[in-house]
Amino acid sequence: MNRLVVSIILAVGILFTSHQMVLASDNGNYEGFKKCGGCHKSQKDSWLETKHAKTMETLKPKVEAEKKKKAKLDPEKDYTNDKDCLPCHTTGFGERGGYKASMSESQAKFLTNIGCENCHGAGSLYRKEHSDAGKAFKATQKPSPRQKLVDAGEIFDYEEACARCHMNYEGSPWKGAKEPYTPFTPKVDAKYKFDFSKAVKDKKALHEHFKLRGVYEGEPVPKIRAEFQKGAKEAAAGEEEEK
Ligand code: HEC
Ligand code: HEC
Ligand code: HEC
Ligand code: HEC
Repeated sequence: MNRLVVSIILAVGILFTSHQMVLASDNGNYEGFKKCGGCHKSQKDSWLETKHAKTMETLKPKVEAEKKKKAKLDPEKDYTNDKDCLPCHTTGFGERGGYKASMSESQAKFLTNIGCENCHGAGSLYRKEHSDAGKAFKATQKPSPRQKLVDAGEIFDYEEACARCHMNYEGSPWKGAKEPYTPFTPKVDAKYKFDFSKAVKDKKALHEHFKLRGVYEGEPVPKIRAEFQKGAKEAAAGEEEEK
């Protein structure tokens, strides 16, 4: 073979492998709840009713005034552009694809508030896995390994996901705490003490649960899964379509 052809093949090979390596260590971008909601309509409709889905409201002047005063915040102030608040009241603030205060309203629409990706992880890579595995399962009834989702950035350690916001204050027993902290700590009011095992079952805060068909198998199975799946409703039929 001609030397030039060999070096071209080598160069393309190196480019290709380094691209794959980048992908393997990449956890994906934030995209907003619309992408997830096209396939998981039942969860989306239920989530829309929760406070997580409306929490940007609380950053507006005069909203929750008494609670703000108690936490030494200014109830007259507009906090909707405040970088000390946005990390916990939007989806992926300051991260790739995530919410930016400079976004137009139509761009921000699916990233304002606490969306799917705050609890399940930035979704650009693993949502494609869901699509592929769903199709494969339909065709062959063969499940795919759940570990692939972890590699694509999906979160299964929910306790850690909640802690990033709920346990993030000075003196927190959670090791990852760093600024900006939540103003609503157990010192301000004991009711802000976060008890994961209780909180995760709060029907007003979390979406309802719908039956999974077993498209994925193997570890890591979320600890709470079996209990939620036992009482789960059937998701409305024919809705697993990418929009
Ligand atoms: C193209 C359709 C599609 C999109 C888009 C999609 N999913 Fe899925 N998702 C599926 C299918 C299919 C399954 C497997 C369901 C089953 O087992 O019955 C699944 C499973 C899941 C599971 C359970 C995985 C497990 O452990 O078994 C979660 C959680 C989830 N999706 C969240 C999301 C989130 C969050 C997004 C947006 C970032 C998203 N999905 C986007 C189709 C999709
Ligand atoms: C580290 C994450 C984090 C940051 C930063 C943060 N918050 Fe929050 N915020 C939370 C959490 C978690 C709750 C829910 C507390 C609860 O109900 O247990 C909350 C609740 C609230 C509430 C409602 C309180 C209630 O009792 O219903 C208001 C109002 C609020 N935040 C305003 C702000 C403002 C204003 C800022 C910026 C100055 C801010 N938050 C910064 C995490 C955060
Ligand atoms: C991105 C930050 C963030 C994450 C992640 C997060 N929360 Fe929250 N959570 C909040 C904020 C902010 C509020 C306050 C909402 C409001 O009052 O507007 C809240 C409110 C709540 C409430 C009180 C709701 C009510 O009706 O008063 C519960 C319970 C809760 N969260 C549980 C959880 C659980 C369980 C997880 C993890 C599975 C979780 N949260 C993940 C920020 C977060
Ligand atoms: C505040 C955290 C939180 C938010 C926000 C959230 N989820 Fe979940 N989700 C959970 C938890 C906790 C479970 C239960 C654990 C499990 O089985 O994986 C779950 C389970 C699921 C499942 C598995 C089947 C089921 O119904 O239990 C799917 C699919 C799912 N979520 C999709 C979504 C989509 C789509 C959104 C956004 C529209 C979303 N979630 C928003 C925490 C959250």
